Amino acid sequence: MQVVILENPDAVAEYGSQIFINRLKSSPKSVLGLATGSTPVALYKKLIEACEAKEISFSDVTTFNLDEYLGLSGEHPQSYRYFMNEQLFNHVDVNTANTYVPPGSAENPVVACKEYEDLIKQNGGIDIQLLGIGRNGHIGFNEPSSGLMSRTRVKTLTKETIEDNARFFGPDEFQPHLSITMGIGTILDSRKVVLLATGENKADAVRDAIEGPLAASCPASALQLHQNAVFVVDEAAASKLSQCDFYKHIEQENQKLIQQLATL
Ligand code: GLP
Repeated sequence: MQVVILENPDAVAEYGSQIFINRLKSSPKSVLGLATGSTPVALYKKLIEACEAKEISFSDVTTFNLDEYLGLSGEHPQSYRYFMNEQLFNHVDVNTANTYVPPGSAENPVVACKEYEDLIKQNGGIDIQLLGIGRNGHIGFNEPSSGLMSRTRVKTLTKETIEDNARFFGPDEFQPHLSITMGIGTILDSRKVVLLATGENKADAVRDAIEGPLAASCPASALQLHQNAVFVVDEAAASKLSQCDFYKHIEQENQKLIQQLATL
């Protein structure tokens, strides 16, 4: 795993966005896995700016989102489809027909989960998957105890996650306790994974994911099995890692190597 520790959330968004921008410059026909939550919003802003500056285009891009609340249609302001439209899709030149979010209002969610998996496969798999992380180490809505090889399915949310996400819902508004989420196995199939985490409240989850044992109690620890996973975190989210200096040293060496290779 590559662990990149940066000064603040803006630097995290900048570093993360450059991974996507470089990918789209070299492979405009990419399949991107996208995430919701507050953490990726700054990265999406940078992608929008790059698109407006004609540095990149989304016209040949296909996207798959990680998860959706079960019981919310895409028109619902708290749905993840609505979030994606607002935060990214409405502001770039993507063909909306090529943007997929698990269908929260599916009549038969079990069938819908299987179809979502099939759709990812039919599109050749995900090139880069963006992830945030929950305070309890969840990725997508794969809560602790999720099978480490799980596929897209219906998941019950923990009390902690419901409380964390309650800030987005009005006091009397229906807040779903169920979701459809890509499985951990689905995420691990992506060719590259980029996890962003900022703020002190993510420090325990980041420590457990990077330095803890591979365990279903911290779903993000499954990324230890991935060949090409990058954690991009700010100092606050990295504050409980025991090997911070080592990770920073590796990153400096990596950057030197990249510069050397560029001169060849
Ligand atoms: C939700 C999403 C996750 C996201 C998490 C953290 O539960 N399902 O994909 O990573 O929130 O969100 P935030 O970035 O707002 O802390």
